[in-house]
Amino acid sequence: MIIGSKFYHLTETNSTNDYVKQILNETPEGTVVVADVQTAGKGRKGRAWYSPEGGMWMSVLLHQCQNYLIPLTAGVAICEAFHNYDITPAIKWPNDILLNGKKIAGILTEINDNKVILGMGINLNVREFPDDLKQRASSILLETKKHFDTQIFYQHLCRALDENYMALKEEQVETLLAKWRKNSAMLGRDVRIELPDREIVGKVLDIDQQGGLIVMRADYGIEHVIAGDCRLLN
Ligand code: BTN
Repeated sequence: MIIGSKFYHLTETNSTNDYVKQILNETPEGTVVVADVQTAGKGRKGRAWYSPEGGMWMSVLLHQCQNYLIPLTAGVAICEAFHNYDITPAIKWPNDILLNGKKIAGILTEINDNKVILGMGINLNVREFPDDLKQRASSILLETKKHFDTQIFYQHLCRALDENYMALKEEQVETLLAKWRKNSAMLGRDVRIELPDREIVGKVLDIDQQGGLIVMRADYGIEHVIAGDCRLLN
């Protein structure tokens, strides 16, 4: 198994993604860094990521391979890790994992020196959220009223990530897309996607080979959206 071949457990760090950046050239592919607390956790688009004790804040060093599909691969792996507990979260494109409509995990990939740092923030046993996040974010603990053993969850996640990362390396794109469809909150939903220069409103038809969302506008025009902020409308 590549994922977790080397493992660092930190009680506290600013960001596990930044920690991996520092050891990038001296550690093998699949190295995992987990922190109990992040003091400057990073989210997408320069946002902060709330990272108190109780969460699983984890970064994995991967090598370049169809990078645009790495977040999708990670999303599938997170969902599959939860299937071991009969919990079925849903992937909200591009990178959010939802349970009961609330965000319970997020994914941030960064590229450095031709390597990919895959960061996953999973709100496992987080007990409470600040007021500005409460509406949209939750944890597995809050949603299921059960406490999760982080070490066992870590094993499930590494196994699922390893399996799906291997599929990605072997270019089994259709297999990954089929898994994404199964775990997705998107198909058939009405969405509004904000792009830097315009916004797209339409119905989600599918995902494409690059991980782009295929959306049909009200005038039946088809868009392939590679990146953007997406809001579910129904
Ligand atoms: C998002 O949804 O905005 C992405 C959140 C990613 C958070 C994780 S926690 C582990 C890793 N280290 C970070 O600083 N960020 C990612």
